[in-house]
Amino acid sequence: MRKIAVLNQKGGVGKTTTVVNTAAALAGMGLKVVVVDLDPQAHLTIHLGLEPQAIMAGSYEVLTKEARFEKEIMLVRPNLWLLPANINLVGAESELVSVVGRETILREAIGPVEDEFDYLIIDCPPSLGLLTLNALAATEEVLIPLQPHFLALQGFGKLLQTVDLVNKRINPDLKVQGILLCMFDTRASLPGEVKADIEHFLEGARGTDCAWAQSRILPTFIRRNIKLAEAPSYGQTIFEYERNCHGAEDYTKVAESIHNQFQLVPQLDAHDGIAEAAEEQDVQTAEQIQEEPAVESVQDADIAIEAGATQEPDAGVEQSHEQPPIEIKEIPQPDSQVQPSELTPTTPPETEQDQPG
Ligand SMILES: Nc1ncnc2c1ncn2[C@@H]1O[C@H](COP(=O)(O)OP(=O)(O)O)[C@@H](O)[C@H]1O
Ligand SMILES: [Mg+2]
Repeated sequence: MRKIAVLNQKGGVGKTTTVVNTAAALAGMGLKVVVVDLDPQAHLTIHLGLEPQAIMAGSYEVLTKEARFEKEIMLVRPNLWLLPANINLVGAESELVSVVGRETILREAIGPVEDEFDYLIIDCPPSLGLLTLNALAATEEVLIPLQPHFLALQGFGKLLQTVDLVNKRINPDLKVQGILLCMFDTRASLPGEVKADIEHFLEGARGTDCAWAQSRILPTFIRRNIKLAEAPSYGQTIFEYERNCHGAEDYTKVAESIHNQFQLVPQLDAHDGIAEAAEEQDVQTAEQIQEEPAVESVQDADIAIEAGATQEPDAGVEQSHEQPPIEIKEIPQPDSQVQPSELTPTTPPETEQDQPG
């Protein structure tokens, strides 16, 4: 079973959309897929047509060991199973904080289904707290959806560092495999610039032992497509809602690319590529240039955060259950056996929590 965490601590970048439609495309290819809703907002559950209020046992109950993973997963489409979320998940981070081995509960819970599915895909919450740690401990591949706008790289370094920390301390199999550009606007120049910045950053890690040393931007991307934005309110995947649209086409390619170990399936290289998008740079309008100061680099973006701009920019959706970020501490290591419990979630200043995104 391939185990993938779809992660970005920002809201509204395309995580849930990516989980739903990639999973649906893989299921449509005849592969057995189980998706896990680890976001207290339960958007994955809703997007697949279920009401969180009606869920008696889901990911919260699995994490608190009141229920078993293999018993609570539901067949929601042919070949597609879901471990849903309900409102109880809101309290999970604080309730589990004193539980020994709290980072690896999910990993243990999925053990019994290891040979039952081809794919397990986790929709992570928009935070780097305990729920996300559980996702990272339980998976081997991280897929980062990223919306290439001017704040796209803010927090990106911290996200990668967190994955690296989990890789070093809890889960040596964990790697950042791919970065998926979502809501890509082929008419603007910025996506091309953001992409170049990420590539430059990733190049710097090649040959090192960090968890993103082999990661790459997926050779296909998701265009901005209104049908993708409409499908969730009907509780449908893009293939049910509108089979013939860019969104369905793009997510089919993403699924095939993932299944093909992040290579682009040659015969599918049909839609306008990223290179082509970069060629269209000169169509950016004067207003866009004024509105969107370019982020110089990944490092600069993170330095800006350290200098005090600590609020995570939200790319468009409400983040009603923002979780405290994980503190990445330099831990003195008398011996190399550092315990996972040293990954301590911290409580950020209240004022930052209350600000709208
Ligand atoms: N490619 C796209 N084009 C247009 N809208 C999109 C696209 N991808 C996602 N959306 C919409 O953007 C919003 C945020 O996406 P979502 O997948 O929920 O992000 P996240 O899970 O990271 O918060 C949702 O309303 C979704 O329907
Ligand atoms: Mg989501």
